[in-house]
Amino acid sequence: MGKKIFSGVQPTGNLHLGNYLGAIKNFVDLNNDLDNECVFCVVDLHAITVNQDPKELRNNIRETVATFIASGIDPEKSIIFNQSKVSAHSEAAWILSCVARMGWLNRMTQFKEKAGNDKEKASVGLYSYPVLMAADILLYETTHVPVGDDQKQHLELCRDIAQKFNNDFKFEDFFKVPEPLIQKEFSRIMSLKDGSKKMSKSESSDLSRINLTDDKDQIINKIKKAKTDTLPLPETVAELEKRPEAKNLIGIYSSLANKNLEKSIKEFSGKNFSEFKEKLSQALVEKIIPISTEIKKLLNEKEYLDTILLKGCEKADKIASKKVNKIHEIVGF
Ligand code: TYM
Repeated sequence: MGKKIFSGVQPTGNLHLGNYLGAIKNFVDLNNDLDNECVFCVVDLHAITVNQDPKELRNNIRETVATFIASGIDPEKSIIFNQSKVSAHSEAAWILSCVARMGWLNRMTQFKEKAGNDKEKASVGLYSYPVLMAADILLYETTHVPVGDDQKQHLELCRDIAQKFNNDFKFEDFFKVPEPLIQKEFSRIMSLKDGSKKMSKSESSDLSRINLTDDKDQIINKIKKAKTDTLPLPETVAELEKRPEAKNLIGIYSSLANKNLEKSIKEFSGKNFSEFKEKLSQALVEKIIPISTEIKKLLNEKEYLDTILLKGCEKADKIASKKVNKIHEIVGF
């Protein structure tokens, strides 16, 4: 039987290789399986949990849609829409915030990381953001959620919220309890400058990530400058464990080539980084340049992108408003 897929990406600009290998590449595979029903959401409500320039946000919403399509998601097959335009998301998030417990949210490590030392100044939205994420998922009878490793804890919270709602209102199976789809290897792509930090759009140095809009020279330059150690490449996966930068780069290569780590290590063991980096750059250019060229082309077709969102929102709204009406009934409104 096919899966019901839901996932989201924030339109905060600078979508990067981590987003692609950790999430979007899987969206494409799931989209291509005819049995699956997929919903891919541009989560603009999540984006405003930190300050956004309105004009940039509007462009970034379109750029995220362009990235989905340029990567190979078919808007005729999958629903692509932006969260703010389907009001059921905000409504369900409020109701579910009355189901979720403070203690559960207090454990969320991503909030702690993002809020940093000054939690008092973080927005309330940044704190309750995983509840909105749960609403996104639960409105669509989702069975599977493809995400990178950093979203695992949020998905566990979503499962807890679903189960508590079903229990509290004695309505078994009202919310389906979704399964995460997180790849075993390569689910966390690290910074090119520090193998212990996640590749991220908020990292200040652009050299730390490959953006999906980078050109060939930028990609080659960033890989040349990527941090490594001084040893040649190892012979076994175990030897990689203490070499985070080497592990990350070989991981990226493997994921691009659809090989497991072991196979890539065999290919490069004993060789030095300069030789490996050349092959890695080549693989990246082959994969990313067609996507980046297509994104740039699509960004000139604003009406086309807006039409995709409009159609997607209509389809999403049909599903989500029905579910939220049922939630109203159950809760007693
Ligand atoms: P966001 O926008 O931060 O990231 C989008 C997707 O990219 C993955 N990702 C990575 N994977 C591997 N390595 C990395 N360095 C890396 N950086 C990002 C993320 O895991 C994610 O899958 N809260 C979510 C968006 C969201 C959502 C949802 C996801 C909102 N509602 C419902 C699934 C279902 C977020 O901020 O992702």
